[in-house]
Amino acid sequence: MKTLFKNAQVVTKKGVCVKDVLVHDRTIEKIADSIDARVNKEYDLTGKYLMPGLIDAHVHFRVPGYEKKEDWKTGSRAALAGGVTTVFDMPNTKPRTTTLNALETKRDLIRKDTLVNFGLFFGANLNNLDEIKKVHGIVGLKVYMGATTGQIIQEEDAQVEALLEKLYSDHQYIVAVHAENQTMIKRHSETYRDEHNPEIHSLIRNDAVAYAAARTAVHLAKKYDGRLHLCHMSTKKELELIAKYPDKNITCEVTPHHLFLTVADYANQENFVKVNPPLRSHKDQERLWDGLKGKAIDIIATDHAPHLRLEKERDYWDAPSGVPGIETMLPLLLNAVNEDMLQLHDVVDLVCTRPAEIYGVKGKGEIKEGYDADLVVVDMDLERRVEDSALYTKCGWSPFSGRLLRGWPIMTFVRGRLVMENGKIIESEGLHGKEVEV
Ligand code: DOR
Ligand code: ZN
Ligand code: ZN
Repeated sequence: MKTLFKNAQVVTKKGVCVKDVLVHDRTIEKIADSIDARVNKEYDLTGKYLMPGLIDAHVHFRVPGYEKKEDWKTGSRAALAGGVTTVFDMPNTKPRTTTLNALETKRDLIRKDTLVNFGLFFGANLNNLDEIKKVHGIVGLKVYMGATTGQIIQEEDAQVEALLEKLYSDHQYIVAVHAENQTMIKRHSETYRDEHNPEIHSLIRNDAVAYAAARTAVHLAKKYDGRLHLCHMSTKKELELIAKYPDKNITCEVTPHHLFLTVADYANQENFVKVNPPLRSHKDQERLWDGLKGKAIDIIATDHAPHLRLEKERDYWDAPSGVPGIETMLPLLLNAVNEDMLQLHDVVDLVCTRPAEIYGVKGKGEIKEGYDADLVVVDMDLERRVEDSALYTKCGWSPFSGRLLRGWPIMTFVRGRLVMENGKIIESEGLHGKEVEV
């Protein structure tokens, strides 16, 4: 099967140039100024942009155990609608992904249902060090400092050092951390125990909570010379911290919800925007944008964490934390490009190329000869409103619903096959995503 893209504005992390791109089966075979070849399918992309498929390095697709919220059929369709062709799934499932057996079971379940490529994080704690030694093919280890959704065991603050010392001395894996200080969260929760306004979430888990944990993690990564990735960085203080460590051993990510929502959004959305770490001030948000422009932030990942409406409608103390985000990340970023908040090649760097580099994913993240044909065609002029009814995520809502965005993915290809066109998923026999090679 050969597919030829003519006159595509090919986006790399450095810029944009008009090229023809030839895809043979699953692979990008040739990129040139002009290609004429006998092919099965030809697309004239004049005026459109061709990007590598997005790698969302942080999702919660909820299998096994929480399939009511999401599964790999719905989650992968949501991904494709949003131009995402690879996702890395987190271990806070039920059972949690902290044993070899749980990892293998999860892999089997995913392989049956997924349309997107995937990588898996393995949860690490002081009780499963022997299991970590048995696993292969994972993208990294995940450490939760601070309790959040699911049954994941997070370490007490005092034990984080023992854990990271062990992980860094025994393994080469990158350690991705959810950095929030549990002792401080507990203390602040007492202070606000009689209140029920969702806004207290940002006070209980304030910037000092994130900073304290991030500082510990960074300090330990330096001490033991390990690879650390700070998930969902959300505050000015954390940015100031990582600015001191420009080396490649410490990387960080921000989420679309921290880039496009603030504490002001509790007023309309209440617990629907309850998320860990919580929404921040406008000032913090401005710093995140500065961080993107100044290259202090390595990647953007969604932390797609769907919960049911019914769960989100509960009282503050009973409503789970997390927001869906996988189908809106690219449109939000493209809209931001249209508003001159960043450039298209920066988007490709942040959501395609750098994620592949950081996690060592082979053959993805760039449009390059010999690379996998995971591709997205983008129409920068298409205007569409985010609407609940058009979403594929099982939870059926988005904190961005109602927004009118300009710039949308109009076609998504996974390993050379067209799987999304104009928002519709195209199913075909034997269509499956594959686990990434790292
Ligand atoms: O808000 C969150 N929700 N933060 C997390 O770290 C986990 C996630 C979830 O799994 O729901
Ligand atoms: Zn997290
Ligand atoms: Zn998460």
